[in-house]
Amino acid sequence: MHFTVSRYQNPVSRYQNPDMKTLLLSTSEQDISAAGAIIRSGGLVAFPTETVYGLGANALDENAVKSIYAAKGRPSDNPLIVHVAKKEDIAPLVQEITPQAKALIDAFFPAPLTVILPKSDIIPNATSGGLGTVAIRMPQNEVARAVIAAAGVPVAAPSANTSGLPSPTKAKYVIDDMFGKVDAIIDGGDCAVGVESTVITLATDTPTILRPGAITKEMIESVIGKVEIASAVLGELGENETAASPGMKYKHYAPKAEIVIVDADKTAYENFVNTRENAFALCFDDDNVTIPHITYGSESDDSEQARELFDALRKLDEIGARRVYARMPHKDGVAMAVYNRLIRAAAFRVIDLKKPFTIGLTGATGAGKGYVCEQLKARGFNIIDTDKIAREVVQKGSPLLTELAATFGGDIIKNGELDRALLAERAFADKSQTAKLNAIMHPAIIKRCIELADGLTVLDAPQLFEANAQDKCYKIVAVTAPKELRIKRITARDGITAEQAKQRVAVQFDDEYYKAHSDFVIVNDGGDITGQINNILDTIL
Ligand code: TXA
Ligand code: MG
Repeated sequence: MHFTVSRYQNPVSRYQNPDMKTLLLSTSEQDISAAGAIIRSGGLVAFPTETVYGLGANALDENAVKSIYAAKGRPSDNPLIVHVAKKEDIAPLVQEITPQAKALIDAFFPAPLTVILPKSDIIPNATSGGLGTVAIRMPQNEVARAVIAAAGVPVAAPSANTSGLPSPTKAKYVIDDMFGKVDAIIDGGDCAVGVESTVITLATDTPTILRPGAITKEMIESVIGKVEIASAVLGELGENETAASPGMKYKHYAPKAEIVIVDADKTAYENFVNTRENAFALCFDDDNVTIPHITYGSESDDSEQARELFDALRKLDEIGARRVYARMPHKDGVAMAVYNRLIRAAAFRVIDLKKPFTIGLTGATGAGKGYVCEQLKARGFNIIDTDKIAREVVQKGSPLLTELAATFGGDIIKNGELDRALLAERAFADKSQTAKLNAIMHPAIIKRCIELADGLTVLDAPQLFEANAQDKCYKIVAVTAPKELRIKRITARDGITAEQAKQRVAVQFDDEYYKAHSDFVIVNDGGDITGQINNILDTIL
């Protein structure tokens, strides 16, 4: 590689030059010292670390650091991690190496671990994103440390991807994102860890993990005792919450494909994805998936999942995936890091197939729930009719029948069969009697329905809320219709007078109740509701 430092004296203006040439460097001693010289003179070099490739610049040079933000298209309030080659190089960057910091540094560094401390004055605002703290990391990868040592300055290095895209774990992905935008890229092979470092702040009362990584919570706690996990690590940041780590508020790791995580065991996941059309899967090695797919390690090996995840996300783009159903990782140990990245790549969309029912379908009488059921059945949903199950569970000889007789009188059983009219007369006599009936019937009905649930299942339940079955359903869909229309429909359907129909309608939940308690409301006012049903299915599946 031919290289002269003199070519690199004005890196910022070079960045602004669209014809900028990017050097592709090896890990030879000569190339590493060339890379160091570029960084020292204010240029940008992408280099391998054990986590992901980093895009390095002199952390103490405001202009050099600004060119990192420009090359990545990164918001300038998102601070950078300062990388050092030796533990001795940490002290000048921080106000104090606290006892906890010292314990972590001694126990782990060099490691895929970043420690945040109050910063010293030599750290420019551009590096700390305007914060009073600085993130410090000493990478394990020897090429990374050699580059930093060759630079002779602390090196600010975010992941070497275009902001928002998956972090690069192979040199080719750095080239895809950064060629022509940086001075040099070192090809150091594949990254061993595959997800970015664990970030922990020691600048708060209780040490708090801001980003999970290969150094797990348990490993850290074994050294410094109890640590917290920032709420944004596993959940979505609320609208008015501020991120402890600015990076958490931005869109992250997202390929072009739209990813949805499917929380299901192996068989349920396979059954689900293998019946999806025009879709791709992001699954584990051992999943039996028949649609086009990319794997990201085996189900039991979270380190392997971490190593392969970002590569898999990029491959999905390469094969032109648009809609991707990803198998949910578990969340313990290193898998917490995998989950944290994947849930962001999926923009927090999760289909929960661990709930017995995919859709709890409810609505007032006469709203036209039956038609919605037919439509869902035609789309392959398994429909469980709770009215039917309600009759089944009180069949001749059933234990429930005995229980009803004990509460409402032995004469409600005639020739072994339930006298429905008599039971209704007694159970609906007053509210406390109705409550007794429900307390016997509802749990038995739901229990039986859960036994029958299989794959994508709709619980067709007019009394979904009364039976308290909401939390057994992944999504709740209510069907409503204008009152007059409902009265018309039930008089025609049940052969009752308009007056009787009005009375029935009057005792039911109103539209506001359904709206407040459901994920989706279908308004079935006599027009075509296919569009509404399609929209719901597009959103939840
Ligand atoms: O593994 C890694 O850490 C890689 C390699 C290249 O070392 N680097 C990396 O940097 O992932 P980056 O910039 O992509 O992510 C740094 C994260 C961001 O989420 C940022 O908001 C957070 O660390 N961070 C940096 N300084 C911080 C500070 N002072 N306070 C809170 N969060 C900080
Ligand atoms: Mg990053």
